[in-house]
Parts: sequence; structure tokens; C-alpha cells
Amino acid sequence: MTEPRTVLITGASRGLGFASTVRLYREGWRVVAAMRTPDHAMPVLREATGAGEHDDRLISVQLDLTDAASIAAAAKSVLETVGAPYGVVHNAGISAAGVVEEAEISLWQRMFATHVMGPVALTKALLPSMRQAGRGRIVLVSSAGGVRGQPAIAPYSAAKGALERWGESMAGEIAPFGLGVTVLVTGTYDTDIITDAGTTDDRDFTGPYARIHNTMDTRGRFAMRLARPPERFTDGLLKALEDTASFRRRGVGPDASMLLVSNRMLPAAAMHHVSRVVMGIPRHGAMRDGAWPLTTPQRAMVAAAKVVPQPVLMRLATLATRFSRSSQSERQGEDDD
Ligand SMILES: NC(=O)c1ccc[n+]([C@@H]2O[C@H](COP(=O)([O-])OP(=O)(O)OC[C@H]3O[C@@H](n4cnc5c(N)ncnc54)[C@H](OP(=O)(O)O)[C@@H]3O)[C@@H](O)[C@H]2O)c1
Repeated sequence: MTEPRTVLITGASRGLGFASTVRLYREGWRVVAAMRTPDHAMPVLREATGAGEHDDRLISVQLDLTDAASIAAAAKSVLETVGAPYGVVHNAGISAAGVVEEAEISLWQRMFATHVMGPVALTKALLPSMRQAGRGRIVLVSSAGGVRGQPAIAPYSAAKGALERWGESMAGEIAPFGLGVTVLVTGTYDTDIITDAGTTDDRDFTGPYARIHNTMDTRGRFAMRLARPPERFTDGLLKALEDTASFRRRGVGPDASMLLVSNRMLPAAAMHHVSRVVMGIPRHGAMRDGAWPLTTPQRAMVAAAKVVPQPVLMRLATLATRFSRSSQSERQGEDDD
């Protein structure tokens, strides 16, 4: 019987990392599940995979990517227990909402420690043995924010962009030794990271960016309804681990694939304009001098007020008030029932 290939995956305790660990185990891989709290998450993972406590195809390692000592200890433990892994999946991540003026510098530091510095340090520690093995794949879990800088998530976008550029650089260096890199541009999946509870929120809904936050929040919540189950992500990861090209960038999910195609076809200024319109951000200069731009329905009302005669407007306003009062009392009636 041939030895199973080993893959190390970070952030295995929840979300995409958890779903991937379960899928990789079922596909016959030996999975090293790296996480901050193995005591808490491993029993759940064992239950989901059906792996016994002494099953050497599901091993845990404690890892906090913001802690240099934890990274060094994790790499040492992996090399001593299973030797050079075939695959390393840098999946762990955090998210945050807030514009540049609002986000604390400490958040930028945490974001880069988790998405860039930590993964780089872990890779540096594992690369010598992987290079000697002469085969293997490093998979970087990126996002739409890593493809294009997105408003109101600059620290996340910048960190994912850095992760991608790091992967591209490294791919050129390690390819001659038989190793490759795949960047997985991940679409929207239903995990904690897209929820209010799973995100650091620095947005000020009463400050100068309130108009932008309000519109983006409404549209963002609508987009989240299209999120797919995390298990659907795992097909993309399996393909990435089988990639043979020195460097590949793959979209996982229809939204990510569409973004990659349009980003390739449209010039940067056009992409910028399209995302501005999609996110409902006012045009260049519209909020200058504290001006409060109107929403589309409000603009329509102002335009209507210019052409519709005054008595007709008054009549419409009275009807609207009556309609709103009667629906309010109907709702009251329903609540009383
Ligand atoms: N879900 C999406 O729609 C989506 C879209 C694009 C990209 N992504 C990317 O996919 C990856 C996985 O996200 P997810 O959706 O699975 O989010 P999630 O459910 O919030 O899981 C995040 C994972 O990262 C771990 N983690 C966070 N900080 C860590 C640290 N300092 N050290 C070690 N582990 C840490 C968490 O561990 P704890 O349990 O200990 O907190 C958890 O296991 C992230 O890189 C994210 O940016 C997700």
C-alpha cells in the first residue's frame, strides 16, 4: 500500500479550513490540521471525519500565526511527526470592515501578521525539507480583495494582495526544485468571516463616510445571501493540490471566476468604475465640502418635483401619508393578534 500524501492546513478549526480538512481526509490524504485551539476543535473534526484518536491520517498541531514561537514549534512538530509535507495550505484568516481613516494601525499589523508574516515564517521553516523532497505544492487562500483593492476593507485587501505577490515571487524561486504555488481566489462562502460576529467592525455610521457605509452595508448583506456552503470550496482546493504548473491562480466559485475574467479584460480605470457603481459609492467629488449626495430614489423625487404641478404633488403626498398610516395600523393589528 502506498503512503498517503501529507497536507498541512492552517485555520482548520472552522469554516473553509474545517470543511477542507474533512474532505482531504475522506479523499485519503494525511491531514495535519493546524489551529489555535486543538483541544476544542479536534474532537469536532474527529466526529466529522470519523477518525479515531490515534488515526495517523488526522493529526493536529497548535498554531497561532501572530506568535513567532508558536510558528517555530508548529513547524518543528510537523517535520518531526510526518516529515516534509506534500502540500501546505495557507488558509487561516481574519476580516475587518472600516475605511482607512477609521481602521487602527494595530488592525493593519494583525492583518499582515495573520495573512503574510505568519504564513511566510511557517513556509520558511518548512521549505528546506520540501525542497529536499523535490515535490509539493503551496496553496494560498486569497480573495476578491486580493485581486483588486476594495473600499472599506483596505487592511484585508492589502494583506491578501501581499499574500498573492509573495506567492508569485516564491513560485519563481522554488519551481526549479520541483515545487509549485497556487493562489486560490475564493468567492463568497457561508462561514463566520462574512458575519458581523466574525468580523472586526471599525465603521462609523455617523461619521463622514456614513453614506458609503450605509449603501455598501445594504448591498453587501444582499450579496452574502448568495454565499455557498463551505463544502463547495473544497473541490477547488483538491484541484489546486493536483496542479502541476509552477504557478497558478484559480478562481473558486462563480463570483471569483467572473472577477478574474473581467479583471483580465477591462482596464484598471474601468474596473474601478464598475466596482464603484456595483457598491453604490458616489462618483468622484460628489461628497466634497461635506455635501450629502442623494440616493437614486431621492434624486428621482427631486426630478419629479420639478416637473409635476404643485397641487398634484400635494395630493400625492396626502395619499402617501394615508397609505403609510393605514399600513402602520395594519401591522399594529397583526402584532396585537
Ligand atoms: N468565506 C468567504 O466568503 C471567504 C471569501 C474569500 C476569502 N476567504 C478566505 O478564506 C480563508 C478561510 O476563511 P473562513 O471563511 O473559513 O473564515 P472563518 O470561518 O472565520 O475561519 C477563520 C480561520 O482562521 C483561523 N485563524 C484566525 N486567526 C488566526 C491566527 N492568528 N492563527 C491561526 N489561525 C487563525 C481561525 O481560527 P480560530 O478558530 O482559532 O479563530 C479559523 O480557523 C481566509 O483566509 C479568508 O480570508 C473566505
